[in-house]
Amino acid sequence: KRKHRMDLLPDQLVRKSIKHGFCFNILCIGETGIGKSALMSSLFNTNFDNSPSTHFLSSVRLRTQTYELQESNVLLKLTIVKTLGFGDQVNKADSYQPIVDYVDAQFEAYLEEELKVIRSLFSYHDTRIHVCLYFISPTGRSLKTIDLLTMRNLDSKVNIIPVIGKADSISKTELQEFKKKIMSELVSNGIRIYQFPTDDETVSGINTMTNGYLPFAVVGSMEKVKVGNKMVRARQYPWGIVKVENESHCDTIKLRRMLCTNMEDLREKTRAYYESYRCCRLEKLGCRDIGPENKSISLQEVVEAKRLEFCLEKEEKEKKIKQQFMQKVNKKAAVLEEAEQQANTHKQEIMSYEEQLRDLGLFSLK
Ligand code: GTP
Repeated sequence: KRKHRMDLLPDQLVRKSIKHGFCFNILCIGETGIGKSALMSSLFNTNFDNSPSTHFLSSVRLRTQTYELQESNVLLKLTIVKTLGFGDQVNKADSYQPIVDYVDAQFEAYLEEELKVIRSLFSYHDTRIHVCLYFISPTGRSLKTIDLLTMRNLDSKVNIIPVIGKADSISKTELQEFKKKIMSELVSNGIRIYQFPTDDETVSGINTMTNGYLPFAVVGSMEKVKVGNKMVRARQYPWGIVKVENESHCDTIKLRRMLCTNMEDLREKTRAYYESYRCCRLEKLGCRDIGPENKSISLQEVVEAKRLEFCLEKEEKEKKIKQQFMQKVNKKAAVLEEAEQQANTHKQEIMSYEEQLRDLGLFSLK
């Protein structure tokens, strides 16, 4: 019996997305030298370009780098965006603004593509941020104002996963206390961080456990060290070795596992953040699904209303320009008239002077 064509659909979709690959965009926020690049290289087991940034930038900037990674036969287009100069300015009150602007700009670019008459969303390079790793300094004390401000301004736009950077510099007992403190501060400040989903029963067990590890205590390294007869990613100290991929040394491997298993959920939640951005933007442009008397408004009506508004505005502008032009012309005419009158007066004066001279019989000017 011939197979129903619809049965081929899922395979076809899987093959298509494998062939075209998919993109995943990570934003790393953290002060200069907190270990953002080392963690990225450790997570994807690839040494990405890493040039240290200066401490003397007058404002926070963002650096974007895109890589194509091939894992078995799946192509991953990975974009890593990291902050430069975060926390280095004397006045840190506005440090979050360039980051918020960046996140919004990616939504805006997507919206523009979506609103084009001829859209190519399938081949469009989607740069919307799927996850934001927020690096907390391993002080063992509390979150800084800049941390609270930045996370609060981003939590409605992006999935935030807080991580404690350079976690090898803090002792085991202090780390547990620090983690608890951070979580309670986030709750008391009303900051929403990403929660690994627990509604799907295949992952609910592991995700509930993982939510309990937040914020992840991460360690990164650009180097591999020989342990036994194996080369492992690690940090070597005079007293021993911290292995990046050892779960009893740090949570880096947990973070990697969770990012991989929840990639689709992160992408889906990003779409939800985008939806609310889109909704706000379109509302500002005057588009509404429901009219004043709870009447549904069609897109055609909105476009027609906008067209009318535009025509009226254009007419008004033209009228104003015409008025301004006429005013200028009238002013010029008045000036010319005055000049002509003056010229006439002068002519008459000359004529009477000539007459006087002639009467005196002195000489003629002609
Ligand atoms: P900028 O781009 O300059 O802001 O730095 P970054 O945040 O990307 O930090 P990077 O990964 O370049 O690391 C800065 C320094 O910290 C390097 O000397 C790293 O070796 C070191 N480092 C990175 N990760 C860790 C870590 O987990 N623990 C420790 N102790 N040091 C680390």
